[in-house]
Amino acid sequence: MTTLPYHSDGIYRGLEAALYDLFWENADDDSEMTAATVDFLIEAARIASGNDSPRILEAGCGSGRILVPLLEKGADAVGIDESAPMIQKAIASVGAERAIKSSITTTPFDARSFDAVVAPGFTLMLVPDRVFDAFIVEASRLLAPSGIIIFDWFIPWDEIADDSLTADEDDWSPWQESKAIELPNGTLFELPTAHSATYEQRSRIDRLRQIVIRNQRFTVKDKSGKPLATEESIQNQRWFFPAELTARLAPHGLVIRDLVGDYEDNPAGDWNTVLTAVIGR
Ligand SMILES: C[S@@+](CC[C@H](N)C(=O)[O-])C[C@H]1O[C@@H](n2cnc3c(N)ncnc32)[C@H](O)[C@@H]1O
Repeated sequence: MTTLPYHSDGIYRGLEAALYDLFWENADDDSEMTAATVDFLIEAARIASGNDSPRILEAGCGSGRILVPLLEKGADAVGIDESAPMIQKAIASVGAERAIKSSITTTPFDARSFDAVVAPGFTLMLVPDRVFDAFIVEASRLLAPSGIIIFDWFIPWDEIADDSLTADEDDWSPWQESKAIELPNGTLFELPTAHSATYEQRSRIDRLRQIVIRNQRFTVKDKSGKPLATEESIQNQRWFFPAELTARLAPHGLVIRDLVGDYEDNPAGDWNTVLTAVIGR
């Protein structure tokens, strides 16, 4: 039942994919955060393109949490994701023309075919550095001349300030149960008696490389609390500082046009946790 932790490359699989929507739906600030993100993305793409129905590519669209409302609000949006279980959920919601299984580094689209390439939901924090750089090259190819790239990340201030956290491989924080939900009937078909699920995590931090390393554990339980399936992974969450991002973008002829905090403060300040960069030529 228990498997060894796998090292995540950012592409969702297994229980992480199966439980993603359910955990989001139960997050306290889910609907507010989702609505603020969608409004911001569509407005920025409208301004950049002068088009009321801007062409938006969502890179790493997952199950369609952001893609669906983007379409509902009038964007000409398409989502891509390399994860089969995640993109299948998106296809079920928006159809196979609007949700396509693809890597974010090599896409099937023509050059200059989008007004905005967006990666919300912290996707680019999870990918290896070489994937980040290859994404910037591909996104830049896909952009119309006045097009923009938008992505978000968070600064893990709590972990940065916590002296007990180190980069040492054997020095994890204690396990914490971060999420616990009751599952709607029949959610996990291969586990028909599944009743609840938990997400636990413990962390380390490599401040020099700007990475929080999370050991995550997903557990599905039956009504009596007996575990039916457990899955562990190690996920790197990399954060960016604005000056560093500016330097990474410069070789590609790109600049940060706006840096927004918590989807409301422009410009972002030191008090913000979630940062969103609007990037253009
Ligand atoms: C944190 S989720 C965000 C999903 C969605 N954007 C949202 O906000 O709900 C990250 C998604 O990016 C996808 N992903 C990660 N690396 C990828 C890659 N190299 N190519 C395509 N998709 C990728 C994962 O499979 C996952 O569905």
